[in-house]
Parts: sequence; C-alpha cells; structure tokens
Amino acid sequence: MKVEVRDGDLLAADSELIVIGLHDGEAVPAALAAAAGADAAKGSFKALAAVFPADGPRVLVVGLGEREKLDAERMRVAAALAVKEAAGLGLGSLAWLPPDSVAEEAAVEALVTGTILGSYRFDRFRRESPDEPPTEIESLTLLAPAELAVTAEAARIGAEAQNRARDLQNTPANFATPGFLADRAEEIAARFDSVGAEVLGRDEMVAMGMGGLAAVSQGSAESPRLIVLRYSGGGSGPTLGLIGKGVTFDTGGISLKPGASMHEMKFDMSGAAAVLEAVAATAELGLEIDLLAVVPATENMPSGTAIKPGDVITQYNGVTVEVNNTDAEGRLILADALAYAVELGAERLVDIATLTGAVLIALGSTYAAVVANDDGLAGELVEAGAETGELTWRLPLHDEFRQMMKGTVADLSNLASKREAGTITAACFLEEFVDDTPWAHIDIAGTAWDAGRAYTGKEASGFGVRLLVDLARRLAG
Ligand code: BES
Ligand code: MN
Ligand code: ZN
Repeated sequence: MKVEVRDGDLLAADSELIVIGLHDGEAVPAALAAAAGADAAKGSFKALAAVFPADGPRVLVVGLGEREKLDAERMRVAAALAVKEAAGLGLGSLAWLPPDSVAEEAAVEALVTGTILGSYRFDRFRRESPDEPPTEIESLTLLAPAELAVTAEAARIGAEAQNRARDLQNTPANFATPGFLADRAEEIAARFDSVGAEVLGRDEMVAMGMGGLAAVSQGSAESPRLIVLRYSGGGSGPTLGLIGKGVTFDTGGISLKPGASMHEMKFDMSGAAAVLEAVAATAELGLEIDLLAVVPATENMPSGTAIKPGDVITQYNGVTVEVNNTDAEGRLILADALAYAVELGAERLVDIATLTGAVLIALGSTYAAVVANDDGLAGELVEAGAETGELTWRLPLHDEFRQMMKGTVADLSNLASKREAGTITAACFLEEFVDDTPWAHIDIAGTAWDAGRAYTGKEASGFGVRLLVDLARRLAG
C-alpha cells in the first residue's frame, strides 16, 4: 500500500474516501452538516457512517468513543474498520484526518498499522469472482505535518512485514513445507545486502548432532531444514538471537492429537514466520543491530519411522532427553536451535513459539506469555508489547517447575511430571539450552491466530513481527 503524509485541507485531499473520527457527543464538521447521511454520523466507538457531500469525495465518519479513552490500540481498530468499509464501498484510496486527542506520532503509527493490517486478505487459493473482484486498497493519505512521514514509513514497513508473516502462516502445510520457509529466508537474503542465509538439510543436522530436530523430523517424508539468517546492521549493542518454532504441521506424532481442530496445526510455524519477517523488516528499516535468526523447520508426523514415546535422544549441547510425549515436539527442536545460536555468538536470545495449549488457558488470546531468565529483556518485551499492541505478560521461573522436567532414565523429560503450569514447565525445558545467555521465551499459541482483534481477524495474526522489530529498535544503537 502506498502511504503518504500531507498537510492540507480535509476536503481537498484527492482520495476516493475521506475518513474523520468523532468522539462521543461531537458533531460532524459544519461543512458536512447538510450532506446526505450526516444525520446518521455519531461518535460512539465502532460506529461508522458514510456521508455523501454534494460535491467532492465521500466522507466516512468513524466513532472513536470517549475522548479520554482514545489510545493507539483504539485507533488501530478504528483504522481497520474504516478500511474494511472503504473496500466494501469499492473505494481504493483513502485519506485520514488524525484526531487531535492522541499525540500525532502515535496516531500516525496506529492509523497506518490498522489500515494495512485491516486490509489484509489471503486469497491465493480462491478463484476470482468475475462479477465482484475484491477492492484493492491502493493508497492511504494522512493529513498531518510532513515530518511525520518517517513515522508513517516505519509503520508501513512493520505492518507489511506482519502481513507477509500472515501469508506464510495461512499457507497450508502441503505448500508451506520446511523447504518453503527456507526459500523465503533465501529470498530475504537476496533482497538485502545486509542479510545472509544458510540452510542445513537432514544429513548435515544429523552429522552435527542436532538430535531434537533429527528425532522430530524422522517420521516425515518432508525433509527438515535448519535455517540461519544473519542481519549485520552494526551498532555497538549485543547480537540478538531470534529463534522461531517452524513446525509446518503438528499432528502430535505417535502421541497423535485429536482430529477436531488438527487443521489449525498448519499454524505451528507462526514463530518461524514472525522471526523471518521481523528480520526482513529490521533490514528494510536499516536498524543498527546485529541479528542472528535460527529457525528449525520440520513436520511432526506419525509413521513407521517416527520417534516413539520413551525414546531417548541427545540434543545439540549433549543433554539427553526422554521423549515421553511426541506431541511436545516444539521444545525438542527449539533446544537444538537455542544451543546452536549460543554457539554461533548470540549474546541475547529471544525465542517465539506456538508452544503450549496451556497458554490459552492462562492468558487467552489477549496476551502472549513471556518467560525469561533476565529482568531487563523481559521488561523490554513487556514495554514493546504495550507499545505495539502485541501484548505480553511475564510468567515466573521457579526450581519447583524445573524439578518437574527431570527424566527417569535421561537428564530431562520433554513431558512434565504434572500437567499444571504447562507454559512454564515448557520454558524450564528450554532454559537448559541457553547457558548463561540472557534469554526470553514468548509463547504465542494463544495469539498467533484467531486473536480477536478487528485488525487481525480470525485467521493468522502475524503476532510477533512488530513486537520483535520494536525490541530490535530498543536494543539497537
Ligand atoms: N503446537 C502445540 C501447541 C499448541 C496447542 C498450539 C494448541 C496452539 C494451539 C505443541 O506442540 C503441543 O502439542 N504442546 C502440547 C504439550 C504437551 C504434550 C506437554 C500441549 O500444549 O498440549
Ligand atoms: Mn505438539
Ligand atoms: Zn507443536
């Protein structure tokens, strides 16, 4: 989408639709009061009304609710509602007049983000209907001081990256294979001089001793990949390691999942999608930071060659693990990836994964869980979440949880001895693979799809892209 920032008169903007926000009790501008439809325009939150002035473009009035309650998140929602309305009216360009009730910069960020995320569609597999081709929203103009163009451009880059992550997530597992994710990584590396990619196949990972990735992938006909993307943006800060779970389909393996919502497990590579596109966005923004992204990608399938409950494996760092439930596969591949990232020189680690159903019980689709061995890193993620609307909430580590991951015949078990605190015990397993490196784990099993926000819809949300980019921005310099 083309995004422009222009100072100017509301009705002079050459867009097909002009959008203005009204707070509760506010009246439409005098210039519009006599126009058809103006009577219906009121300011209650989420209310929309199309107004038809006698001459000039159409005007959409969006309710912003109470003036004191308006914040960036409500603006993202308002922008998404407006852009959906524009598409419904068949109008391909819109101009927003940011309300004066929020700081200009925050308003511009939110309107650009909400508009781009709200206009997302995934129609790769749909036949185009000849009578009603979908309206493509081609441009967004913000009627604001020109110096806010930088803010708008940064928001555009983040939101477009998030939409690309949604494409990766939504693509079904017969297309979005480990090789497909590796191709996307190589495409990113080809686009930016500052990014390099390296992809390992099955034989290499086995030879290197990546027992977790080897074990999870051994039941599948689709060959696994270990993807490494490096972004060299310089700066004096520590190298940030980003690790994303890339299970392109999770059947549970021999510990098979029930059938009812198994199709959703094409989304089990959402962490990988977020990491890949966050690296792309960071490179596009040219942030002064070095990133080391490691994405273990595999299917988790049951078959005659699949790993069995009780099997013992050796992870990349030499730790042995009893695989007591083959459906707890994410931690096995992340363990190798975390240990590898430490070896490759990551000085801070953030992993992001659809790791446990338990996080949905704890935090719903509203917050992703953060579990960390480092207060500073956890704090940055909580703040970045509040800023981007990709909310995170920290859960604690404790020795009592660590005890629950001990093995009977091996060092660790991949299945906790009790079901309680499942999100934390999964994180305790991962902690065994980070040495003393400051590390934070983000569990996005509740937020990666069906997140219930007006701008992310029912399917893939792209959660984590803007969060990770914001973290990179905080650590850059
Ligand atoms: N990919 C799932 C987690 C998941 C569940 C994501 C539901 C999104 C929605 C993960 O691999 C898994 O199966 N976890 C198990 C772990 C258990 C066996 C210890 C779970 O959460 O049930
Ligand atoms: Mn699983
Ligand atoms: Zn999984």
